[in-house]
Amino acid sequence: MSVNRILTGITTTGTPHLGNYVGAIRPAIQACQAGGSESYYFLADLHAIIKCHQPELIRQSAKEVAATWLALGLDTDKAVFYRQSDVPEITELSWILSCMAAKGLMNRAHAYKASVAANLEEGADPDFGVTMGLYSYPVLMAADILMFNANRVPVGKDQIQHVEMARDIAGRFNHHFGEVFKLPEAVIDDSVAVLQGLDGRKMSKSYNNTIPMFLPEKQLRKHINKIKTNLLEPGEPKDPDTSTVFQIWQAFADGEQTVWMRKQFEDGIAWGEAKKQLFELINDELGGARDKYNELLADSSVIETVLQAGAEKARAVSGPLLSKVRDAIGIGAM
Ligand code: TRP
Repeated sequence: MSVNRILTGITTTGTPHLGNYVGAIRPAIQACQAGGSESYYFLADLHAIIKCHQPELIRQSAKEVAATWLALGLDTDKAVFYRQSDVPEITELSWILSCMAAKGLMNRAHAYKASVAANLEEGADPDFGVTMGLYSYPVLMAADILMFNANRVPVGKDQIQHVEMARDIAGRFNHHFGEVFKLPEAVIDDSVAVLQGLDGRKMSKSYNNTIPMFLPEKQLRKHINKIKTNLLEPGEPKDPDTSTVFQIWQAFADGEQTVWMRKQFEDGIAWGEAKKQLFELINDELGGARDKYNELLADSSVIETVLQAGAEKARAVSGPLLSKVRDAIGIGAM
């Protein structure tokens, strides 16, 4: 029986926030620690340049994302942790796959469709601002996944379609050229919380409602104080199940602490006090990693060394697989 290979990419276009942590980073690091599978985690910087054309932002985000994973203790001896653009086999595979991927399939990709819909709404040309990068985004993502024959891909719900496209493309390739690729599956873990942001909607960079993971204490406190609540006074019972403060609490607390806070809500805890408690809880969980994070950012050569070693491990896998692909499709040395 072959072992599960878990792979996921993090687009480097922002500063990691609590939603990323709870929804993706923490479970991924735990999966790696638990053992029993192989973990491939990477900085998706080639995906980042699709939407962001500001080199300084991309560079800074790549540093921050890498420093976050390392500060949280990702074991890079166990996991293969690398930067997508350090593995040129991926871009080559992406082209090869684009010769197998149906254009009609790409027409249905929701990132592309959303851009077209927005254009039509404004009476603009449907393809206004749509680059080939955006259009082929799912092919590059398929290359990321298939390059390492990953079979389990933990993603948010918005990415399921892309993993299914990767599966579709792999199936077509195999059908035509023989069994080269494993068929990947999206993994959605329902026990992992989708965190709410300051305004109660899903915490997301695009809603501008995030709490960055490693804010200095004072700022973290400030952000938590900005979480939207209602006007209930201290002493009035509050409903935990409609409260963002409680929802975030739950994502950081153990069972006992959750029961305790539920009781505090019923007993009418003041919003200010609930937020103070929430700050303490988050600060306790992330405070240690924050120091490490700042250290790593102050001297990114450590990060770079880790990424270089990761790329070497990744290429030991991608090189041979790409040779197999080239051979299967009839290109390369005679
Ligand atoms: N597109 C994903 C996102 O925006 C990131 C990503 C790139 C990815 N390549 C991947 C995720 C491969 C899983 C597997 O979230």
